[in-house]
Amino acid sequence: MAYLSEQEHTKQIREAADFIKTKLPFEPEIGLILGSGLGVVADYIESPVHIPYETIPYFPVSTVEGHAGQFAVGYFMGKRVIAMQGRFHYYEGYTMQEVVFPVRVMKALGVEHLIVTNAAGGVNRDFSGGTLMLISDQINIMGVSPLMGPNLSEYGPRFPDASNIYNAEFNAKVLKAAEEMGIGLKQGVYFYFTGPSYETPAEVRLAGLLGGDAVGMSTAPEALTAAHMGIKVTGISCITNMAAGIQKTALNHAEVVETAKRVQDTFIQLVKRIVEMV
Ligand code: HPA
Repeated sequence: MAYLSEQEHTKQIREAADFIKTKLPFEPEIGLILGSGLGVVADYIESPVHIPYETIPYFPVSTVEGHAGQFAVGYFMGKRVIAMQGRFHYYEGYTMQEVVFPVRVMKALGVEHLIVTNAAGGVNRDFSGGTLMLISDQINIMGVSPLMGPNLSEYGPRFPDASNIYNAEFNAKVLKAAEEMGIGLKQGVYFYFTGPSYETPAEVRLAGLLGGDAVGMSTAPEALTAAHMGIKVTGISCITNMAAGIQKTALNHAEVVETAKRVQDTFIQLVKRIVEMV
């Protein structure tokens, strides 16, 4: 597979960011990536500016049901936020560089904190449909990394440390906030699979044996890329179903979206609080 040169890649990121800047009244400080069924958080942004992905130079276009495919930018809990309503997944056929392009653009726009969210399958037997899980760490043994290819030296080092992808201090604050709010936020390791099929029961057993608490098809590339650039990341998985083999009924996307909707109010409250305290 062909990778962009460092120079071309850096130029594309800058051009996309420059275009977005012409639409914005301010420089955003917090990035939000909203997963399946969780995009509604963006509805709480005050007088948002919407920037459809297809209008932005070099942006891929989202194809998944339940993903709007735009940035929503504005004040949220008194903070300047840029939210992705819809994200890019590797299983859609994009390259890893394309999947994480928006995160790099966020950095170029001035984002220093990132809140990533997703729908995921529960592997940890303490979880059930509707559980919210703070991501403590991630596992990606799919053989693909968004940092492959020429390194973007302007953004981060060739061999970045990955021991604090989900910022420990940031996570501690989120846990404390959840506790104060009476939200039973669990913690766990997000095990990345490329999808698009849900995992087999054997894969789910493997994920559990290797230390995974939840399985999902997003987030890991974006979180690593953000950490590479020095962005402080926190992540929340909405466990929309127990993973294959644990849950006895067949998995489907409608169920995922439905469960996400069911816990949406709690989820919104938590995200609001996180944004407020950043
Ligand atoms: N596996 C992978 N991704 C998911 C799942 C799952 O069980 N549920 C929601 N997203």
